[in-house]
Amino acid sequence: MLGKIFTEFLDLVEEQFGYEMVDKILIESNVPSQGSYTAVGAYSHEELFALVIKLSESVNVPTKELMLIFGQVMFKRLVSGHPEILNAIDDSFELLSHIDDYIHVEVLKLYPNAQLPKFSFNRISDTEVVLTYQSSRPLASFAQGLLMGCGEYFNEGFSIRREPQTSDSETDVVFVINRAMKECEHA
Ligand code: HEM
Repeated sequence: MLGKIFTEFLDLVEEQFGYEMVDKILIESNVPSQGSYTAVGAYSHEELFALVIKLSESVNVPTKELMLIFGQVMFKRLVSGHPEILNAIDDSFELLSHIDDYIHVEVLKLYPNAQLPKFSFNRISDTEVVLTYQSSRPLASFAQGLLMGCGEYFNEGFSIRREPQTSDSETDVVFVINRAMKECEHA
């Protein structure tokens, strides 16, 4: 996992809870890098989980919930850091259809160290898509947060559910995404 993800996470913790909290979770988790990350360096995702677990204990919010929020905020940060990648994309479903064959391909050119998941995209209708997430890293809640951030970014009111709803897998997940139908301008 790129150092960039860690620095964004620690920035968010500082913004929300202050620098003392950053210090506290770094000390309590005793992570190998001790908080010095370089943006293009690669670190184990276990290290992120160790920090999230300590934050969860300190602020009394479940780890899954924290990963959702982190993903949601991270979408805006990724997009504002790389506006050129989204230049030719007009709406959320177009973006979701090109995560694997375009967006993450460009990401890999910029950050050869990046470790990326696999997505497959299936458009059911103008308002519904099915996106499957598969990764060797258990980051499905982070992915779900990114999806929430994507819906907000395009102002398309996403509702996202996992199928089957009983599965709590974090490595293989089917997301069913519905968006509010956009008004047709030429009706
Ligand atoms: C809604 C759209 C997107 C989804 C669902 C998504 C999903 C993910 C997930 C789940 C990961 C974590 C790695 C893993 O699970 O194995 C990831 C990593 C990453 N993504 Fe995306 N992504 C999206 C859009 C973007 C965009 C727009 C950018 C940049 C412009 C981007 C850049 C990155 C980067 C830099 C990483 C870090 C790789 C690493 O830590 O090694 N993603 N993405």
